[in-house]
Amino acid sequence: MKPIKVGLLGIGTVGAGTFDVLARNQEEITRRAGRGIEIVAVADLNTARATELTGGKCKVVADAREIVNDPEIDIVIELIGGYGIARELVMAAIANGKHVVTANKALLATHGNEIFAAAQEKGVMVAFEAAVAGGIPIIKALREGLTANRIQWIAGIINGTTNFILSEMRDKGLDFDVVLKEAQRLGYAEADPTFDIEGVDAAHKATIMSAIAFGIPVQFDKAHVEGITKLSATDIKYAEQLGYRIKLLGIAKRAVVNGAEGIELRVHPTLIPAKRLIANVEGAMNAVLVQGDAVGATLYYGKGAGAEPTASAVIADLVDITRLATADPEHRVPHLAFQPNAMNDIQILPM
Ligand code: NDP
Ligand code: HSE
Repeated sequence: MKPIKVGLLGIGTVGAGTFDVLARNQEEITRRAGRGIEIVAVADLNTARATELTGGKCKVVADAREIVNDPEIDIVIELIGGYGIARELVMAAIANGKHVVTANKALLATHGNEIFAAAQEKGVMVAFEAAVAGGIPIIKALREGLTANRIQWIAGIINGTTNFILSEMRDKGLDFDVVLKEAQRLGYAEADPTFDIEGVDAAHKATIMSAIAFGIPVQFDKAHVEGITKLSATDIKYAEQLGYRIKLLGIAKRAVVNGAEGIELRVHPTLIPAKRLIANVEGAMNAVLVQGDAVGATLYYGKGAGAEPTASAVIADLVDITRLATADPEHRVPHLAFQPNAMNDIQILPM
């Protein structure tokens, strides 16, 4: 069978990691996907850097529209970020009948309903494992592993940058600004790190998880969002003396207010007893706790940011789509995790 053809939009931190891991583990990935997965074109503003990174192994273009309009391409990977050009390109790819893989939580948390409605109409898949908790397969766990459960709550450390900052401030007594610069150097932080430190990135991820876990449309605008910028070294020290760690948690849980069922969606610094497992998640690591009615509490742990951990999730989606796209259309399992028109009566509660 001929390889499935992929176009990569944006070869920055995650894009370069994806290109490298796909090349390095090509044999295993091909075996698992059932056919080859070939990146045939890459778009990036910096074409010289893209050509160097890809070693002349595929076409490099400056205008990403060339890729989304290329009839030869089956899957588009969007790794540009933001909701400007990325939104336009994802919508165009869907309109052109291409499957999409993206790590862009900002885009999905704010425009996910529109994107998934378009994908549903066009019969294409949009996969986004990399958008939440980097390399941890939390989307697959919520969507498939825990599918028998009524999920009661999710609570997680889902931003690597802020967890890295809090850990380094506590352990090494380093200043906030110094650690943030290091997180940027290591490729953990967003292009605009305000999203990390103000809790917005964690809220994007909590919004996406809430949509999958509770079967509701994305409602990022209703989330309560508080970051770590108001915390001082003294807060961290006093918490430690009292036997607690401060962690930035993203929380989504069922709640009932005035007899109406709803969802609490919030991100804020939280005091956690130091002996709890989640209090000991350090550096850029992420951890997500999920409580289901049948399974009880489950915990997922791993690298939440960085080139190759995130690439691991991007490629898992590529394999997933390749398998499904290759199957007889009549036997394809729907792959739409978001339900843009479902259960609109369940709302995020005001906080
Ligand atoms: P980078 O900024 O490192 O990479 C983005 C790349 O896209 C850059 O090479 C940039 O070029 C290029 N680009 C910008 N505009 C265009 C355009 N119009 N056409 C083509 N290319 C363009 O970001 P990351 O790799 O860190 O992140 C990519 C996505 O993955 C984001 O959505 C992010 O939120 C998400 N993500 C990132 C993680 C991480 O650990 N870094 C983890 C999980 C998700 P130039 O540099 O020249 O502007
Ligand atoms: N900026 C994000 C973080 C990248 O620090 O967690 C991973 O989504």
